[in-house]
Amino acid sequence: MTSALLSPPSVTARVPAKVNLELLVGPVRDDGFHTLSTVYQAVSLHDTVTVRPAQEWEVAVHGTFADGVPTTADNLALRAATLLAEAADVVEPVHVTIRKEIPVAGGMAGGSADAAATLVACEHLWDLGMTKDALCDIAAELGSDVPFLLHGGTAVGSGRGEIVTPALARGTFHWVFVPSTGTGLSTPAVYGEHDRIVARRGLTPDPDPTPNPAMMSALLGGDAEALAAVLHNDLQDAAVALRPDLGDLIDAGMGFGALGGLVSGSGPTVAFLCADAEAAIDLAVSFTASGTATNVVRATGPVAGAQVVPTSRA
Ligand code: C5P
Repeated sequence: MTSALLSPPSVTARVPAKVNLELLVGPVRDDGFHTLSTVYQAVSLHDTVTVRPAQEWEVAVHGTFADGVPTTADNLALRAATLLAEAADVVEPVHVTIRKEIPVAGGMAGGSADAAATLVACEHLWDLGMTKDALCDIAAELGSDVPFLLHGGTAVGSGRGEIVTPALARGTFHWVFVPSTGTGLSTPAVYGEHDRIVARRGLTPDPDPTPNPAMMSALLGGDAEALAAVLHNDLQDAAVALRPDLGDLIDAGMGFGALGGLVSGSGPTVAFLCADAEAAIDLAVSFTASGTATNVVRATGPVAGAQVVPTSRA
């Protein structure tokens, strides 16, 4: 008998972070969420989640951004596991281990990513044979971004972000992310600030926002320069109002030669689009060598969504 046969079964899933290439925020709905139209792209900055049968529902977090992730029942990965168990009548608890390399409260869907990876890993562990659509329905209950993290690639998000339609994108885009050194931004706080800005400016949000056709053709053509020209985030003014240093960071990146820069989602991570891999290295070096930012991450997109990592035992 090999030792592999004696060890408890475990399943590991790998999940990317996301950046919003466009985020158009409509009015507040009756349920408190905002109608939105967004273009998501999954990028090559990954968390990994391992699940294995246990006596209790529990979670442990390791990795670069482990600090600040709750290990209580409100951990989104743990909620994903219990919600899927409930839906599938599974009664055996799991232990969830998260290796956290995606910034926490950073606007890159870190918590949502872990929830998506947990759904995929538990579905495999429990051998549920569920379709992606069925898993997406459960994902949507956990958070607006979670269904996209199951899909990956490049996609349009509508509704409150949970309705995902794949978008055609050619080639690879090169990104530099500058995670915040300070505290993260709370998503509800950024949406709240956005509402105050809209009211103060006397604006009427578009009740039915739709993706910018120029963005869709830039993606189709794999044209980084054209894409950079149309990157847009309606939440950026709100994020910068709460964290004015983010505006300076965007200016610095543009000064260093980025094609485009914007706050990622509700922030505070700032994303810069570069012409190619070499330009991304140059930009990252400019940030660190100038002392403008110490923590800089390069990534490419689009990449696949949450996926089980094959093991030699499988
Ligand atoms: O869906 P998710 O859990 O990511 O949302 C977190 C918070 O962000 C919501 O409670 C809400 O305050 C805000 N939000 C929103 N409209 C959306 C998505 C999120 O107002 N479409």
